[in-house]
This record gives sequence, structure tokens and C-alpha cells, in this order.
Amino acid sequence: MAQAPVTVTVTGAAGQIGYALLFRVASGQLLGPDTPVRLRLLEIPQAVQAAEGTAMELDDCAFPLLTGVDVTDDTRRAFDGVNVALLVGARPRTKGMERGDLLEANGGIFKPQGEAINAGAADDVRVLVVGNPANTNALIAQAHAPDVPAERFTAMTRLDHNRALSQLAAKSGASVADITKLTIWGNHSATQYPDIFHAEIAGKSAADLVGDRQWLADEFIPTVAKRGAAIIEARGASSAASAANAAIDHVHDWAHGTPDGDWTSAGVISDGSYGVPEGLISSFPVVSRGGRFEIVQGLELNDFSRERIDASVQELQEERDAVAALGLV
Ligand code: NAD
Ligand code: LMR
Repeated sequence: MAQAPVTVTVTGAAGQIGYALLFRVASGQLLGPDTPVRLRLLEIPQAVQAAEGTAMELDDCAFPLLTGVDVTDDTRRAFDGVNVALLVGARPRTKGMERGDLLEANGGIFKPQGEAINAGAADDVRVLVVGNPANTNALIAQAHAPDVPAERFTAMTRLDHNRALSQLAAKSGASVADITKLTIWGNHSATQYPDIFHAEIAGKSAADLVGDRQWLADEFIPTVAKRGAAIIEARGASSAASAANAAIDHVHDWAHGTPDGDWTSAGVISDGSYGVPEGLISSFPVVSRGGRFEIVQGLELNDFSRERIDASVQELQEERDAVAALGLV
């Protein structure tokens, strides 16, 4: 019997990430070549017409796996029966906006979306938050979905992971395919910590092969952590195709598993592992097994790593405190 379609909801569907993402979802790159997909595109009223244009283009691709596309500005409708929720739309920081204003504005988006997921999502729903500040937006949505297991809410740090792979490959002359066990810890922000101390290049210690702490501290870490800002500077717009690609990687691995002998990075709810306070959505090394992300346990952390993880986790705690003060979590 043919497989039932999986409902994938994309918010911010008329935005630039949405445009880079939807066609890949519809072509089968998110869930595999045997899984039919029904798309729900959620937008704000002013952008519904643009999203309808994208829906017309999706039709025009005649994707065999795409069973339907609905466009809506109704949050409850968008998440009714959803299996995979890609929360991309967010309120960008504009001139004169303080951090607190940004968190509050995003609370106005992610609280009702969390509530709608709680009310109508399928039992197996998986949620990936891309819209910034991704970790804290994921926390807000999760806090308003008490009936959904907290582990189903994740935040995207896969783009940071992929950026780190690429920088390490360039430095070492290796192929990205030879690099395993790299980790992004903490927040998807400039405080994130890309960690190569457990990484391997063709089975050998990456830190030993690179052997250059100066490069690590002064080039590698800031290049990865500030790559988003560098893209904005160069393109005049934030990363879009690479962000969409990372969202595909994240959900694909979540659904299909990570390769043996390797792990990836994702913002997942902390169970207290590595001293990260329980309940924070922080990036960790994760494997995906049986459709679930699990935090890789037992890694030794040197002082260099500990200090940087603590700094990023401190920022996550401050963000949680700020949204708690606004009554959002
Ligand atoms: P964009 O401005 O091009 O598109 C955002 C879209 O979201 C707009 O079409 C807007 O109308 C829509 N939107 C706003 N509020 C909405 C709501 N309540 N419901 C539904 N749609 C809504 O932005 P973009 O370039 O596509 O980026 C989207 C987000 O992703 C931004 O917050 C960006 O900072 C973030 N981002 C995250 C990562 C990451 O690695 N986590 C990487 C790149 C970008
Ligand atoms: C990125 O990492 O490219 C984005 O999060 C940058 C941004 O601020 O949108």
C-alpha cells in the first residue's frame, strides 16, 4: 500500500529560507524518496500572496511526491495534524530594537505556534526552530506545548556544524567526508563553541593534526561563530540556501539516523548533561537512533572547552531569564 503523506508545515514560507527550502522538501530530500509530502505554508497576512506564488511554482515542478500545498495565515490550521514543523518565520531585529524587545516580539510568534502544535499536531510531531534567536524561540514554543514530549522541540545549529566541517577541511586539506565527531555546543549565536577536541580526520585526532591552538582560538572559532554576520555583510542578506540545507540535514538525520561512528550537532533540551542546566535548549553532540536524538555521553572536556561552553550556556540562561520575566516560559 502507498505510504500516507507526511504533513510538513513551513512558517515564514514566503521568506528567503522558505524559498530555498520548500522545493527540496517537496522533491523528497527531507524525508526520502519513498515518502509523499503534503505542505502547509504559514505566513503573515501581508505575505500570503507571495506564498501563494511559491505554491504555484511548487505545482509547476510536478513533484511526484508532493500531494498538496495549502497556504494559510491561520496558525491553528497550519499545524493541524502536522508531522514535521519547520519554524522559520521570525521577527528580525530592526534598528533601535533592544534584545528584550526582540525576545518579546518573537514570544508573540512562538507562543501561539507552540499552543497550536500542542492543540493539533500529530503524535509523532518533530519541531525544528530555525528563526532567531533559535534556541530561545524553541524554548518558548516548547513551554506552550505541555502535551508534546519536550524532546520533540529542537533548534538549528546544523548550519554552524556544517560551517565548522568546511573550515576544518580547508585548514587540514582533508575532505569534509573524512571529518567526524565535531561538535557545536551552546547557543546559535556568536558565543557558540565549535569543538574539535573529539573530532577525527580519517580516524586521527583533528586537534593533533591541526596542532595549532592559535588558529583554533583566533581563527577557527571566531570564523565559525561569526559566519552568519560575515554572510550578511557580503550578501546584504542573511544566509538562506545554506540555512535551508542545514534544516534538511537536521530533519533527515532525525528521521533516518546518524551514521555509525559519527555524530552531529543539534539544539536539544538539556537533561543536565555536561552541566548544562536541565530544560535549556542547547546545542550538544547528538546521535539519532530509532527516530530520536540522544546526547552523546561521556566526553572529557578540557579547560579550554569548559570555559567556552559555560560562556555560551550562560547566555542561554540569560535569554531564558529574560523570556521568563516576560511570562513567556
Ligand atoms: P525573511 O525575512 O526572508 O523571511 C521571514 C518570513 O517569515 C517573512 O516572509 C515573514 O513574513 C515571515 N513571518 C514573520 N512572522 C511570521 C509568523 N508569525 N508566522 C509565519 N510567518 C512569519 O527571513 P529568512 O532569511 O528566511 O530567515 C528566517 C529566520 O531564520 C530569521 O530569524 C533568521 O535570522 C533565521 N536564520 C537562522 C539560522 C540558523 O542557523 N538557525 C540561519 C539563517 C537564518
Ligand atoms: C546565520 O547563522 O547565518 C544566521 O543566524 C544569521 C542571522 O542573524 O540571521
